[in-house]
Amino acid sequence: MARYEVIGGKPLNGAVTISGAKNAVVAILPAAILVNGVCRIENVPDISDVRILLSILEGIGAKITREDGTVEIDSTDIHSTCPEPELVKKMRASYYLMGALLGRFGKAHVALPGGCNFASRPIDQHIKGFAALGADVEETEEYVALQPGANGLQGNRISLDVVSVGATVNIMIAAVLLPGQTIIENAAKEPHIVDLANFLNTMGAQISGAGTDTVKIRGVEALQGGTYAIIPDQIEAGTYLAAVAAAGGNVLVKNVIPKHMECITSKLAEMGAEIINYDDAIRIRCDGKLHHTTVKTRPYPGFPTDMQAQICVCMTLASGVSRLTESVYETRFFGYCSELESMGADIQINGKTAIVTGADRLYGSTVTAKDLRAGAALIIAGLAAEGTTYVKNIHYVERGYERLIEKFTGLGAQIRRIED
Ligand code: EPZ
Repeated sequence: MARYEVIGGKPLNGAVTISGAKNAVVAILPAAILVNGVCRIENVPDISDVRILLSILEGIGAKITREDGTVEIDSTDIHSTCPEPELVKKMRASYYLMGALLGRFGKAHVALPGGCNFASRPIDQHIKGFAALGADVEETEEYVALQPGANGLQGNRISLDVVSVGATVNIMIAAVLLPGQTIIENAAKEPHIVDLANFLNTMGAQISGAGTDTVKIRGVEALQGGTYAIIPDQIEAGTYLAAVAAAGGNVLVKNVIPKHMECITSKLAEMGAEIINYDDAIRIRCDGKLHHTTVKTRPYPGFPTDMQAQICVCMTLASGVSRLTESVYETRFFGYCSELESMGADIQINGKTAIVTGADRLYGSTVTAKDLRAGAALIIAGLAAEGTTYVKNIHYVERGYERLIEKFTGLGAQIRRIED
């Protein structure tokens, strides 16, 4: 196992370029198999989730070529609707293969996914969608098997009981090639939902309403190949902004869509950071002196749950008492709050809300990442802390942050990877 060594106390200065969005690319790569031809996808981040997904696609017969940030996927000769279970279990978004294989081939046999286990993460809304599209669903402890029901597969109206990114994505992908129209109500509105719809429409799909709570998919006979570039990752960008807020400094965060960041940047400004928006970049200046605020996480366009841990670190150093309420995954606090307390943070968790009393400083410690964003938060804490912090279990972090060491050292951070 490897760990990061972080020597804190230095402000961050310079510029950092944001990579393609993890949560967009893990939806678009499976969706590419709907095309009976070649898709060229640009701005693909080199992260372990992508590497695993590409291995899964190769395993069922797709031909993959990769040059720097561009991936070509030829799905002409896909020969299996049962992706390798051991690979599928390594990440959560592999469950998008359920919708993609059902949509392209009318059947799928996919092991239940793995991924970050900071909360119970059911897939009942995905199953509800597949059944509404006419699939017979067999769900066991190990896998989900889908095949056409007695009346075959066709478009339908589906009203989600929960605003679910994953279910919205999976149903969109499954519906694209089905006859008739599919309407997803109470759909998720995240930027990566819009990015998926734009990708599919570039390949010939007919999807409207992505980014609103009602997405309409009019089935088409086939998709043709094409080229598409992934949007920038607003959570990666938010992570670097939070790092500057916590450690202090002056950084230009490049290759972002400021509109996607509004909830994050407005909160950091409320806490005392200076934020300047450009067309495709954001500058943040902070002297490391923050004041308290209140945050409630919400589905997009609210404050993202994937930034909960990172903003919490800023709160642990902000003067006064901050309140952080989680509305998507109630147990997400337990992935990192005790680790922050070992660094001197004062956090009281009361159900869905954490009461965070600002401390003068954090102190370096040896801490363990329990999920992707918790790991990122512990790195931010180490950068802001006095002394040296060792972050263990960094494989979680490397699932979703491309070239993290290079990007942070480029900002003057003293961080390095150590093989245990
Ligand atoms: C996606 O997870 C993201 N992952 C998560 O990001 C993110 O935290 C989450 O959306 C919320 O924005 C990817 O996109 C790969 P949901 P997902 O379905 O799709 C409940 C990261 O750090 N629910 O929107 O699994 C669920 O329990 C990761 O990048 C059901 O009840 O999230 C949760 O309370 C972590 N039944 C809420 O809905 C279902 O069938 C939102 O979950 C599905 C979800």
